Amino acid sequence: MKPEIKNLAKDLIRFIDASPTAFHATENIESTLKKNGFLQLAEDVSWKIKKGGKYFVKRNDSSIIAFVIGSKSPTQSGFHIAGAHTDSPLLKIKTETENCAAGIIRVATETYGGPLINTWFDRNLGIAGKVMVKTSKGYSVKLLKIDKPIAVIPSLAIHLNREANKGFEFNPQNHLQAVISTDPKDKEVLKAIIAKELKIKKENIGEMDIFFYDLEKGKLCGSEEELISSGRVDNLQMCHSILEALLSIGKNEKTAVAAFYDNEEIGSKTLMGADSNFMRSILERITLLLATGKDDFYRAISKSFLISADGAHAQHPNFPEKHDPGYVPKLNKGPVIKLSATFRYATTAESSAYFVQLCEKNNVPFQKMANRSDVPSGSTIGPLSSATLGIKAVDVGNAMWAMHSVRETAGTLDHWYMTQTLISFFRE
Ligand code: CO
Repeated sequence: MKPEIKNLAKDLIRFIDASPTAFHATENIESTLKKNGFLQLAEDVSWKIKKGGKYFVKRNDSSIIAFVIGSKSPTQSGFHIAGAHTDSPLLKIKTETENCAAGIIRVATETYGGPLINTWFDRNLGIAGKVMVKTSKGYSVKLLKIDKPIAVIPSLAIHLNREANKGFEFNPQNHLQAVISTDPKDKEVLKAIIAKELKIKKENIGEMDIFFYDLEKGKLCGSEEELISSGRVDNLQMCHSILEALLSIGKNEKTAVAAFYDNEEIGSKTLMGADSNFMRSILERITLLLATGKDDFYRAISKSFLISADGAHAQHPNFPEKHDPGYVPKLNKGPVIKLSATFRYATTAESSAYFVQLCEKNNVPFQKMANRSDVPSGSTIGPLSSATLGIKAVDVGNAMWAMHSVRETAGTLDHWYMTQTLISFFRE
């Protein structure tokens, strides 16, 4: 494998390790954009944009949309959009629940998204998220990332539950409380830990959106380092690919747009999710500012195209029967085009044909995926973005095992393939 392929995968792992939550993914994307000459625009001020200009807009510090204005107007060339999600399944900390049981201080959690819960037991857990800090002038926002093993959710020994290996049903209220201290006299342990980390007084901690995350760093593995083993591959892998592709743009005719949305794992219907007006408001605003006619926006939209990029289930060698034999995506065999008769994915024959051409042009192999007809399919930001914006879209992604496990596995080569394809899409 060429060194540049491994280096891209190593860069992805660095990005994932630095991004335990959607807030951190957004912050890391933002700092990379700024280093590459992108200017931040706020939604509540008047915008001045120019052809060739590079910009980004944020919502809730957890979603970010970046764009490079092309030399042709959007009515002539449309928008080329690639989108992914910044959030991953996590355990959200219920900050008001600190309690003592059996002499042990615990804090309760609520599952965010659909994690494979059994993979979260017996892990070294750090704490990360967004904290509102009280100041003399109101609140200031601080991102929190305690990269130390603060907590653990211990599993129950096999001797105390002999049936455990036949499957154990967890009660999220009772069994997902995390241990944060073994001294029953401790008070406000969570706040003390956070105050120390942020170097502020305990009483100045205001509201918080904070999560536990697994501290283990990502690694390349396999005899040829052909596998990427990490948490949050779904979907920081696609965020990384899209960001790389956006940064590769030089002089471009078409306006390229990269969307990194929060809240896909819980249905996207939030202020900053893909099922909000975030994208539409940005596209409309760009078109209006460059407009020559009243129907410019609608003309631009009808010429646009969206690639929705998210993880795809690779066939599992120990459970091969879980896939339709006609659709068996493999690791390191190229991007996967996702198909669904009920449009759980946005792909149509037309949009799929476009993506196939893109792969062929770049000598990138591609694969297809459709669920077994007796298994309901997952979904992505694709169908709702396509429907609410009125933009043709294709759903694609890289093959992976153990989606939503605390540790997922993907292919080193696939990350390269997808990135090359997206670079070509933006540069077209
Ligand atoms: Co996903």
